[in-house]
Amino acid sequence: MSEPTEEPRAFWEQFYGETERTWSGRANAQLVAEAAELTPGRALDLGCGEGADAVWLAEQGWQVVAVDISATALQRAQAFAEERNMASRIRFERHDLSQSFPEGTFDLVSAQFLHAPVELDRAAILGRAAGAVADGGVLLIVDHAAAPSWAPDHHEHHFDTVDEVLAALALDNARWQRVRAEARVRDAVSPAGDPATLTDNVIVLRRVG
Ligand SMILES: C[S@@+](CC[C@H](N)C(=O)[O-])C[C@H]1O[C@@H](n2cnc3c(N)ncnc32)[C@H](O)[C@@H]1O
Repeated sequence: MSEPTEEPRAFWEQFYGETERTWSGRANAQLVAEAAELTPGRALDLGCGEGADAVWLAEQGWQVVAVDISATALQRAQAFAEERNMASRIRFERHDLSQSFPEGTFDLVSAQFLHAPVELDRAAILGRAAGAVADGGVLLIVDHAAAPSWAPDHHEHHFDTVDEVLAALALDNARWQRVRAEARVRDAVSPAGDPATLTDNVIVLRRVG
C-alpha cells in the first residue's frame, strides 16, 4: 500500500489511482466458501473495492448493494459488473462508512478485509453492519489474521484475533448464533510467484432474534 495521505477518501483515491487494476478480479476465497451455503437474497458488500465479490454474489443469484469510499474503485466495479452482465443485480453506492451507511436490511452483510492504514472506525462500522442484518441473516467478517508468509515482519501492527473482533462487536449472544469464528490458513502465491500461505480470521454470525 502507498503511504497514508491526509484523510481516508484522498488516501483510497490515491491508492486506486496508482494502478489500472489493483485486485485480482476473483472473489475472496472465504466469501465463496461461506456464501455458497446460503440461500441467495439481499447482500451488502462493505468496502467492495473493484467489485469482484459483488459480481460473484450477483452471479450466485444475490441482489447486491456494494459500497466503497473510492469513486475510482466503484467505477471499475461498475464496469466489471457490466462486463459480466451483472449490473442489473448490483447497486454501487459511495459512502464513507464512518459517516453514512446504506439503507435497508440484508440477508448477508459481508465485510472482507475492511482494513485501512488510515482512519477507519471498524468497531462502529461493524456495529452498524450487524444492525443491517435481517432476522435469520448472516454477518460475515473476514480479516487478515497475520502478515503474509512471504513477509512475516512486513506489517508491524497488531492483527486483531477473532476474540478481539468479537469483543469489539459486543453483540448480544441471545440474538446471534456463532456459526464460525476461527483463524483459517489458505494457500496463496507470493508476489515473487512462490507457494505461500495467508491466514484469515473468519467470523460468521447468524441473527436469530
Ligand atoms: C483492503 S481493501 C479490501 C477490498 C475488498 N473488500 C477485497 O477484499 O478485495 C479495503 C476497501 O475498503 C474501502 N474503504 C476503506 N475505508 C472505507 C470507508 N471509510 N468507507 C467505505 N469504504 C472504505 C477501500 O476503498 C478499499 O476498497
